[in-house]
Amino acid sequence: MQRSKLVIPGGSGFLGRLLAEWFNRKNWEVVVLSRRPTPEMPHARCVRWDGRSTGPWRRELDGADVVINLAGRSVDCRYHARNRRAMMDSRIDSTRVLGEAISGCENPPAVWMNSSTATIYPHSIDRPMDETVTEFTPTPAAKDAFSIKIATNWERTFNDASTPSTRKVALRTAMVLADVPGTVYAVLRRLVRCGLGGRMGSGRQYVSWIHAVDFCRAVEWLIDHHQLTGPVNLAAPHPLPNREMMRVLRKTFGVPLGLPASRWMLEVGAFLLRTETELILKSRRVVPTRLLDSGFEFRFPAFHDAVRNLAALGASNRDNHQPRSSSSM
Ligand SMILES: NC(=O)c1ccc[n+]([C@@H]2O[C@H](COP(=O)([O-])OP(=O)(O)OC[C@H]3O[C@@H](n4cnc5c(N)ncnc54)[C@H](OP(=O)(O)O)[C@@H]3O)[C@@H](O)[C@H]2O)c1
Repeated sequence: MQRSKLVIPGGSGFLGRLLAEWFNRKNWEVVVLSRRPTPEMPHARCVRWDGRSTGPWRRELDGADVVINLAGRSVDCRYHARNRRAMMDSRIDSTRVLGEAISGCENPPAVWMNSSTATIYPHSIDRPMDETVTEFTPTPAAKDAFSIKIATNWERTFNDASTPSTRKVALRTAMVLADVPGTVYAVLRRLVRCGLGGRMGSGRQYVSWIHAVDFCRAVEWLIDHHQLTGPVNLAAPHPLPNREMMRVLRKTFGVPLGLPASRWMLEVGAFLLRTETELILKSRRVVPTRLLDSGFEFRFPAFHDAVRNLAALGASNRDNHQPRSSSSM
C-alpha cells in the first residue's frame, strides 16, 4: 500500500518536529520545506525553499496528501519595525506562494492546513471566544493590535487562495505545551523553580493552551474529518487565569512560593529578554467549539493533568538518560 505523504513548510521548528515525529511513527512519508535544509532532521526528508517564491520544491506538493504550513518568523522578539516586517511577510509570502503552488498541481493535496493563531481573538476575561466570533477588535491595554493584524492578514491570504480541489483549514492554535527546551513550558518551569512563579500582572488574564499530544491528535482528526473546513481552534477546553496557572505549576514542581511580577517588572523583563509583554498579559480565553462539536475528545482537557503528565515524562526521560524529544508524548 502506498504511504500517505505529508509536506510541512516551516516544519523545522517546534511544532513541525512534533508533527513530523507523530506522522512518521504512523508510517507517513514526511517532507519538511526549510530555508536551511539539514540532513539531520529526524523523521522527515528536508527540501529547500525560500518561503516566498516557487522553485523545484513545488513538485513535493503534487500527489501529496496533506500540507501543513507552519512557516513564520518567531513572534518571541521585540516588535520593532524590522521584526514586524519579518513576522508579517514570512507568514503572508509563504501562504501566498503555497496557494499558487497548490493551484498549479496536477494532483493537488486533499487538505491544506495553514497555521493561524488563537491570538486572533480579542482580549477577553469574561467571555469565552470560539469560532463564531468574527469581530477581531484589538484592545490598547493588551497591546495586541499588531498580532491581530498579522493573524487576520494571514487568514485572508489563506482564504483568498484558489484551491478548489483542496480542503482548507486554518489552525487557530493556542500555546502548545511540550517538554522541549526553549518552549513556553520549559521557560515557565524554570521561572517557577527560580522562585519567580507568582502571578503575572493582575493574574486575571486567561491563558489558552493545548498539550502537544492533543495538538497532534487534533491535527490528525482534522485530516480525517472531511466536513471540517475553515478556522478551527486548537486549544484545550479549559483555559485558566494566569494566577491559577502559576499556582498549578508551583504545586506540580513543589515550590510553595513564587514572587508575583507587576506590569512594570514584566515590561523591564521583556525588554531585557528581547520579547513583548503581550505574550503574557493579553487575555486569551479561547475554546475549541468546532473540535468538540465534531466529537473530538481531549486526552488532557485540564491544565493540571497536562502539566503533571509533562513533569512525569520529563522525570522519566532524565532517569533513562534519554535525549529530550517530542516523543516524550
Ligand atoms: N508554538 C506555539 O505554541 C504556537 C501557537 C500558536 C501559533 N503558532 C504558530 O505556528 C507556527 C509554527 O510554530 P513553531 O512554534 O513551530 O515556530 P518555530 O519553531 O519558530 O518554527 C517556525 C519555522 O518557520 C520558518 N521561518 C522562520 N522565519 C522564516 C521566514 N522569515 N521566512 C520563512 N520561514 C521562516 C523556520 O524554518 P526554516 O528556518 O527551516 O526555514 C522555522 O523553523 C508559527 O507560525 C507560529 O506563529 C505556534
